Amino acid sequence: MAKIIDGFVYRNINKAAQLLRRGEVIAFPTETVYGLGADVYNKKAVAKIFEIKERPFFDPVIVHIANLKQLEEVARIEDERIYLLAKNFWPGPLTLVLPKQKKIPYLVTAGLDTVGIRMPSNVIALSLIQSLGRPIAAPSANLFTHLSPTTADHVFKQLGSKIKIILDGGKTICGVESTILLIKKNARPVCLRAGGLPIEEIEKIVGKVEVSKKQSSKVLAPGNLKFHYAPRKPLIIVKNEEEIAEHFKDFKKKKGFLAFQKIKNKKIFSDWRILSPSGDLKEAASNFFDFLHQLDEGPAEIIFAEKVKEVGLGRAIMERLNKAAHQ
Ligand code: TXA
Ligand code: MG
Repeated sequence: MAKIIDGFVYRNINKAAQLLRRGEVIAFPTETVYGLGADVYNKKAVAKIFEIKERPFFDPVIVHIANLKQLEEVARIEDERIYLLAKNFWPGPLTLVLPKQKKIPYLVTAGLDTVGIRMPSNVIALSLIQSLGRPIAAPSANLFTHLSPTTADHVFKQLGSKIKIILDGGKTICGVESTILLIKKNARPVCLRAGGLPIEEIEKIVGKVEVSKKQSSKVLAPGNLKFHYAPRKPLIIVKNEEEIAEHFKDFKKKKGFLAFQKIKNKKIFSDWRILSPSGDLKEAASNFFDFLHQLDEGPAEIIFAEKVKEVGLGRAIMERLNKAAHQ
C-alpha cells in the first residue's frame, strides 16, 4: 500500500527522487492535478506508468521541467513565441506541444515527433524535478478515463495498491489540468485541451488561438478521447436547476446535483455541492474534480451537473463535463 508522505518536507522529496532514480513510479502534486511521475529517460519506468494507469500506449505523456535548460534538452525551439509564452505563463498550467529532441523516448510521446512540456508552478513538483535532476514524465495520477485527482486521498483511492509513495501537497489550487497548446512554425497556435490557463490570456500574448474541434483525434491529443474524467455514476448536464425539476421529477433514482452558484430547492436532492457561491470560475475549477469525487462516493445514484458559462476557466470545466457525460 502507498504511503502518503508530507511533500513540504524536503527529506521526503529526496526520498521520492531516489525512488524515481531507481526506476520507480511515484505520485506528486502539481498546481493542476496530481501527477504519476517517472524519470522521462527511463523507458521501463515510463512503461510502468501506463501499466499502473491501465492507459493505452497511444496516449502520450506530458514532460515536466523545472528550468529552461531542460526545455531545450527535451524540445527543439524553432519559434520565438515559445519563449514569449514561457516568460508569461511558466511556471504554470500551460503545456506546449513542440518538436521533440531525439533523446525523448517514443514511448513518452506515443510515437509522435512532438512532445508536450510544462513547467508546473507547484513548489513540491519543482523541488522534485530539481532533486532528480531530470525532467519527469507524468500523466494525471488516476486510472484511465476516471476522475482526475486533486488530493493525495483521491490518488490513494485509485492507485494506492500500485505505488509506494504519494507526496502530499494538499488540495491542488488550480483543480483542472493544464491548457494544451500546439505550437507549429508559421501557424496559429492550436488549443488541444482547454485547461487551467484561459485561452483569452494566451491570446493577449500570441494572438488568435485556434480551438481544436477534434475531440477524439488520434493524432493531436489522443488523451482527448470522448470518454474521460468520468465518475462511476451516470452524469447528466442540465441548463439549470429548473430543468431537473421539470424533466426528471418522476425519476426514481436518488439525485445528486453539482450546481454552479446556488441551489433553490435542496429537498429534491439526496446530495449536492455548490462549485462557487460567489460565481467565481477560478474557485469553481479548483473544486470541480473534488466535488465530483465526493458526489460519486455519496448517496446519489445519478449526478446532475449545471452548465457554466463557456468563457475563461468555464471552457475547461465544460470540456470535462461533456466528456464525463458522454458515457
Ligand atoms: O495539468 C496537467 O497537464 C496534468 C499534470 C499532472 O501536469 N497532466 C495531465 O496529463 O493532465 P494527462 O496525461 O492526463 O493528459 C495529457 C494530455 C493527453 O490528453 C495527451 O494526449 C496530451 O496531453 N498530449 C501529451 N503529449 C502530446 C503531444 N505530443 N501531442 C498532443 N497531445 C499530447
Ligand atoms: Mg488525465
